[in-house]
Amino acid sequence: MHQPDRVSLREVAPRDGLQNEPPVPTADKIRLIDALSRTGLERIEAVSFVSPKAVPQMADAAEVWAAVEKHSGIRYSALAPNLRGVQRALDAGFTAVEVVVSASETHNRANIGRSVDQSLAELPDICGLAREQLASIEVIIATSFGCPFEGDIAPAQVARIVEAAEAAGAGRVAFGDTTGMGTPRRVTELLDAVDTALPMLMHFHDTRGTALANLLTALDRGVVEFDASVGGIGGCPFAPGASGNVATEEVVHMLHDMGVETGVDLEALIRTAELAQEIVGRPLESGVLRAGPRTSLTPKP
Ligand code: COA
Ligand code: ZN
Repeated sequence: MHQPDRVSLREVAPRDGLQNEPPVPTADKIRLIDALSRTGLERIEAVSFVSPKAVPQMADAAEVWAAVEKHSGIRYSALAPNLRGVQRALDAGFTAVEVVVSASETHNRANIGRSVDQSLAELPDICGLAREQLASIEVIIATSFGCPFEGDIAPAQVARIVEAAEAAGAGRVAFGDTTGMGTPRRVTELLDAVDTALPMLMHFHDTRGTALANLLTALDRGVVEFDASVGGIGGCPFAPGASGNVATEEVVHMLHDMGVETGVDLEALIRTAELAQEIVGRPLESGVLRAGPRTSLTPKP
């Protein structure tokens, strides 16, 4: 199997995780982001600038962002669904924004309230605006591996969005497995269908237990950027059945044992997963959070 020396992880618990939980206090969001900033993670998606009616959990995005510690070595970013959201993110001081569009027509309408083509038509203006302010745009393609409303999504449909993103001037594309419908076969088929010079990132949910297998498949194909969420929290409020992202501590635990660097301090990350668990107020499913690293020993009986 091909494996790189290093993988770049982006932590998405503050956004993908907390958008899918009952709203938590602003101070807890700040505590979580600050704790994540001290784990060695190099990228953190901190908030989203979406409609507070659609996602009340993110209504305090600007307030959260104003208060968190900004570490110089960390690339913080925000998610936005449209030009208005990108403008709000830039006004708040972000220099990296993820714009989400679904490969599925039905999910795009449920999530963003418009057609895929309407979303794509706005991309050139979004990228132009970001360029003026020296910010970068990544296009996240949700439901890349399947849609809870439509079922399988043809890889060609995803490839079309990649082309539009590249033509509009986006700097990166990401493939979101919104409801964990991806499998190694689907990852391979998608990468076979996509032809782009842009860096590619993968965002797996572990709804059906395939996230780490998907990640290894992508790694073997040369993908070195992944989203993950501490404690494995996450999900889309507009995709029924969406459940947690692959847990960051499970990814780091596995990669380090393989000799793949992430720059993350696993112990600090597990402590942050404990904090996430305390903040959301329910037991989280991450195996590494529950059992500890594979070398954590039990005292002899
Ligand atoms: N941030 C804040 N408010 C926004 C906004 C944004 N990015 N974009 C639009 N709005 C406001 C409008 O000003 C309008 O406000 P009003 O009702 O007070 O007049 C309201 O939202 C409705 O806007 P409209 O253009 O009619 O769209 P909509 O109701 O279909 O909502 C979105 C569209 C995109 C704003 C909404 O669906 C959304 O925020 N989706 C994000 C979903 C999400 O975060 N999913 C999980 C992450 S993938
Ligand atoms: Zn997600």
